Amino acid sequence: MTQPALSLDASPDLRSAFAADVRAGLTHTPQKELPSKYLYDEVGSALFEVITVLPEYGVTRAEERLLAMHAADIVAHLPHDVTVAELGSGSGRKTRRILEALCKKRPTSYFPIEISRAALQLCRRELGDIERISIVGYERDYLAGLAEVSKNRSADERLLVLFLGSTIGNFGRLAATRFLRDIRNMLAPGDALLLGTDLIKPTPVLVAAYADSIGVTASFNLNLLARINRELDGDFPLEAFEHVARFNPDARSIEMHLRAKRDITAHVGAAQLTVSLKAGETIWTESSHKYRAEEMPAIADDAGFVCSHQWIEKEWGFAESLLVAK
Ligand code: TRP
Repeated sequence: MTQPALSLDASPDLRSAFAADVRAGLTHTPQKELPSKYLYDEVGSALFEVITVLPEYGVTRAEERLLAMHAADIVAHLPHDVTVAELGSGSGRKTRRILEALCKKRPTSYFPIEISRAALQLCRRELGDIERISIVGYERDYLAGLAEVSKNRSADERLLVLFLGSTIGNFGRLAATRFLRDIRNMLAPGDALLLGTDLIKPTPVLVAAYADSIGVTASFNLNLLARINRELDGDFPLEAFEHVARFNPDARSIEMHLRAKRDITAHVGAAQLTVSLKAGETIWTESSHKYRAEEMPAIADDAGFVCSHQWIEKEWGFAESLLVAK
């Protein structure tokens, strides 16, 4: 029996966009790179769910503790009558506490925005049993999805945007502020954004969080090349690459790379690309920037928000900041 296709997202348009991005990234000099959003196909999303329960990766548990402890307080600080849009809901597990606290007060609409259809399905299953909730998923990029949610709401509804986890850290610092400004431009004054940020901590703790001892993060990273092989007719020899996570003190970020263990030449059929790597050369796949809680008010201000409250988890080091649109 033949196996079904692995990806739910293999439409011709998405495939050619993927091919174009791979071509641009792997011909980029001097540093070859691949866009991190392609880490999250069906295999990658499943591996990421495993990362969130690894002993070394404290991020998700810290945020879950924070939201479990403070959901009622967070909701008490929100504008009344909020409609909720979430950027990158993932499985929806973390969001449950906030939605339950909101739905206890009044019926609430929840719009998860996700490029992963598998994640949307998971999220609907995870949260669908909350009383008085209405869930409508948008299979879109963040800003396109948010534009639609914002356009469809009525004049007396306030919007609460959730951007949890540490996804903002995956943008560079300038790009992060620019992205927050893009979000702000779709909001009305008084709308709110609840923003998760992973905080700076000792380098060995940070590095271990992105290079765990049983190699799940390595597999998650390598899956990007495996996905190119599967979907774009590539022939990367996976055994000739290793996962590298290193702290960049100037950028205050963890950088993830795939390093060639020997000289490699590979082909990507659908991108009409031949790519060569020297032994030791890397492909940069992701960065995760770390913040100090105290820098959020200035970042918020720059992007057109006021940072009105923060909730901080001290054991791991994670902050939830409530930004209100000016
Ligand atoms: N947003 C997550 C983070 O920066 C994504 C992530 C966790 C990740 N582990 C990773 C991305 C390993 C690439 C490789 O914490």
